Amino acid sequence: MEVRGLRTTQKPKPHRYPRSKAKPMDLTNVVEYWEANAENWTRFSRAGYDVYRDTLNTPAFLAMLPPVDGLAGLDIGCGEGTNTRQLARRGARIHAIDIAPTFIRHAQTEEERDPLGIMYQLADATALPFPDTSFDFATAFMSLMDMPDQDRALAEAARVLRPGGFLQFSILHPCFAQPHRRVVRDAAGHTLAIEVARYFENSAFLDEWIFSAIPAEQRAGVEPFRIPVFHHTLSVWVDFICRAGLVIEQFAEPQASPEVAAAVPLVADTRVAPLFLQVRARKPSASHLVRTFT
Ligand SMILES: C[S@@+](CC[C@H](N)C(=O)[O-])C[C@H]1O[C@@H](n2cnc3c(N)ncnc32)[C@H](O)[C@@H]1O
Repeated sequence: MEVRGLRTTQKPKPHRYPRSKAKPMDLTNVVEYWEANAENWTRFSRAGYDVYRDTLNTPAFLAMLPPVDGLAGLDIGCGEGTNTRQLARRGARIHAIDIAPTFIRHAQTEEERDPLGIMYQLADATALPFPDTSFDFATAFMSLMDMPDQDRALAEAARVLRPGGFLQFSILHPCFAQPHRRVVRDAAGHTLAIEVARYFENSAFLDEWIFSAIPAEQRAGVEPFRIPVFHHTLSVWVDFICRAGLVIEQFAEPQASPEVAAAVPLVADTRVAPLFLQVRARKPSASHLVRTFT
């Protein structure tokens, strides 16, 4: 993911809904926005410009992932499929869904070029087209905060997991990333602090940005991504997870190592405050319930 924090010199964005007029975006809008983003997102992320994803967030996610070799998994909000393919390379049998047809098309084309046995499908995370208890595990890399009705998406993920199965997901950190994150730097460009604001607004708004790593000449004339965001506080997220019947077993807040920050200065802000939150939660099995309640 791109950081919203590299905007110290930018004015407030014009597309953010004014607080008093905030209107929840419905599913149709979300599909339209992501479909419009999908072509450039695929091109630029595959060219290596999604540096937060590739140097920090996905490596940390995979380091936290339990072994999935031989397991049946579902990747929710798979985008163009780069992360999905990492799951398949670890030996999992993967289904993957996304709401944007262009992402699914690009993911399928890559699957045809270099088959890993992934089954891609156009579908909505809040109405998964799979029977109950279909999967051993589910993942959602940076997708859940981008959809309305996150409680429904989490309940759906829980429904399709077998008892004892787990959901692991990453989101923009609810405390430090949205609705407002600004990186405060000294004159030499070193990160001093992260400014956050409006944390307690459970808000829906349209964010607008593009991968900062894209060279200026390639950026010229390219429309920024326009991303519907549905912000909730950390306690609301925990409530959603618990109400889905899942038991939280691990939290992680990836931080760039000194070596990664030196090599990729863009991600150095994560050494001051995290940009991402990763969560693993498990659907209780009968034996887990016995252990918990006796
Ligand atoms: C930030 S991208 C992440 C893509 C991919 N997981 C990655 O890590 O590169 C968020 C993805 O969520 C998808 N998405 C948004 N709302 C969705 C929904 N209701 N159901 C399924 N996918 C959705 C978008 O189309 C987009 O591909």
